[in-house]
Amino acid sequence: MRLGVLCSGGDAPGMNACLRSVVRAAASDGHDVIGIRRGYEGLMKADFFDGELGVGKMSPRSVAHILERGGTILNSSRCPAFATPEGLKVAADALDRAGVDALIPIGGDGTFRGAVALAEFWKGQVIGCPGTIDNDLLGTDATIGFSTAVATAVDCIDKLRDTAESHERLFLVEVMGRHSGHLALATALAASAEIACVPEEIVDAVAIAERVQELRSLGKQSIIIVVAEGDEQGGAVALNEKLSLADCPYATRTVILGHIQRGGSPTAEDRVLATRLGDFAVRSIVDGATGMMAGETCGHCCLVPLEDTFSTHRPLPEHQIELLDRMSC
Ligand code: F6P
Repeated sequence: MRLGVLCSGGDAPGMNACLRSVVRAAASDGHDVIGIRRGYEGLMKADFFDGELGVGKMSPRSVAHILERGGTILNSSRCPAFATPEGLKVAADALDRAGVDALIPIGGDGTFRGAVALAEFWKGQVIGCPGTIDNDLLGTDATIGFSTAVATAVDCIDKLRDTAESHERLFLVEVMGRHSGHLALATALAASAEIACVPEEIVDAVAIAERVQELRSLGKQSIIIVVAEGDEQGGAVALNEKLSLADCPYATRTVILGHIQRGGSPTAEDRVLATRLGDFAVRSIVDGATGMMAGETCGHCCLVPLEDTFSTHRPLPEHQIELLDRMSC
């Protein structure tokens, strides 16, 4: 068989590890892999990987020592033009001309929406691998990149805590996650933040100010509030303005972590997950599956229809907001 592989949307640490796994699983089974550069945009332009086997083909050597590297050697993109009937037709033609039998897109919900739309125009098999720091897809316990993004944010907050304690300040730290609070909540718990503001919960600035006053009276020298970029108060800067009007007992500072969370060498957890899912995606294709995401739940690899991974908002893990609150006293 000839498999195509691409990375699309926001990059995530572990995408390279997944790519390596796809290439090596395919090679060990006697299949070819065509690397498609720059996501769906590159697919529309037939922009293929150029390595020692010539244009297109990826050999096991072409993915040597990339497991530990952040980002993606294939590059990524966001491509609104792909999601039009014309764009999808151009992409389908490019896959047919390259003789691709099956496609493995590595990315998040936007990537999978694109893959579902492509299936209307292209008859090949599609198995997606979940690569996004947001952890907002249903059908897998974790997405590739989430563990690393949490670890990066926690490392930053540990440093912020030092200066917060020295100056007896409150820091509002904004993290990514788009419309989802998974990254914010896991970061807050792991970094011993006092409060997390997430899109899944109503964020009341007055109630937060009251809680902060309470924590001050308990002797807390510093406060860390982790704010998801998608929270309804409009992020850390807007919440900071509201807190200042609501009588906050600490001097405050805001920090936006932003794309820092998308970079860096993947954690061991992300490396293992990416390796398992890339291999499972290849084996699923060989077994004839299509229209699915390769995920992992409770330690087992599983296939989930691509549509189901983004059809509803993935809820936050139960009771963790309450847990954070109990830990903050
Ligand atoms: O989906 C991953 C993500 O990092 C989100 O958390 C964030 O909202 C978005 O991508 C940022 O996208 P861009 O890099 O295009 O600004």
